[in-house]
Amino acid sequence: MAATRARGFGRAAAAVAAGAAVALLAACGGGSAEDGSGGSGGADGRALPTLTEEHAPLRDLAPDGVVIGTAAAGGGHFGSGNDPFQVDTDYREIVGAEFSSVTPENQLKWEYVHPEPETYDFEAADDIVDFAEEHGMAVRGHALIWHSQNPAWLENGDFTPDELRDILHDHITTVVGRYAGRIQQWDVANEIFDDGGRLRDEENIWIRELGPEIVADAFRWAHEADPDALLFLNDYNAETVNAKTNAYLAFVEELLADGVPVHGFGAQAHLSLEYGSPGDGLRQNLQRFADLGLATAITELDVRIELGPGGEASEEDLERQAVYYRDVVEGCLAVEGCTSITLWGFTDRYSWVPSWFQGMGAATVTDSVFGRKPAYDAVAEALGG
Ligand code: XIL
Repeated sequence: MAATRARGFGRAAAAVAAGAAVALLAACGGGSAEDGSGGSGGADGRALPTLTEEHAPLRDLAPDGVVIGTAAAGGGHFGSGNDPFQVDTDYREIVGAEFSSVTPENQLKWEYVHPEPETYDFEAADDIVDFAEEHGMAVRGHALIWHSQNPAWLENGDFTPDELRDILHDHITTVVGRYAGRIQQWDVANEIFDDGGRLRDEENIWIRELGPEIVADAFRWAHEADPDALLFLNDYNAETVNAKTNAYLAFVEELLADGVPVHGFGAQAHLSLEYGSPGDGLRQNLQRFADLGLATAITELDVRIELGPGGEASEEDLERQAVYYRDVVEGCLAVEGCTSITLWGFTDRYSWVPSWFQGMGAATVTDSVFGRKPAYDAVAEALGG
């Protein structure tokens, strides 16, 4: 399993490094508030304990063989030259201290890693993978086939089907091959079904131009490029049993029957207080994939809250949010083979939510100065702390 392998590459050394990072940050007086969002505080104005104060990091609380991860912030809504993972040293140190897995939030998406037909840019992704190795962390690679964040040269390129096949084959071979043995899980196919359970055969350039069989080829090519990596399907609104996950289940069964190297199913878990917690439905759903022999994972967990007029989340909502986080972590841990849980960012300082969902925010486990919200404690407890 990926988790076992990640622990294999230097967990003891990493734990020392992690402890040192926390101590260092504490000595420096904690996180900076240069983002202008004010001091750390709960909804009632009380200061929250911060990630920069000494505490047991999440990675040490997780059961053996389970990794707890975060997205490494950069690209996407940050704009170019502003990658928090590169420029915010407090943030970066917390990533290494607190987590045992990392996912480049945008840095391995086509528009970043393959910006021109003949150009690959691995700078940001290399930095994350090197960092992960230094800190004994696993890496999730994200994503190879997707309908979003593709470069214009690809989407508007007017390529023949044969050319497109070659482009995808070259991309997968180059990108997966570069990190062979260093990225343990890949989201090979991201969001290929819509909520009704229909393949996205119009939005997704690969499926539209090359047919659904291209998904199986992508898995085969990724497996050739790194036979040790676990290869995943991944989607949102895929936490519970519903039309979308039923479609995935049927799709996986077909892939397995055809001998396609598919190894895992990822539920992103971009949740909202509006829609209710998946509750025990998460366990029930993931168990269906586990029963087929697949690994499962929580890949992009966050829980967005409708903010009040002052841009604040109420204390009551923060408590409700904690229940969602707890439910998801507990649901995953109840399923054998669900050994990777990734938060889509750990601080509201950098969450994608406010720029994507109007009026929503406060979706992560710490506030904008790394103050630990009830959701952080819920994750820690659910992991076993
Ligand atoms: C998001 C990033 O967090 C943003 O920075 C970016 O602007 C858009 O994409 N599903 C996924 C992720 O698979 O890649 C998305 O990440 C969130 C939804």
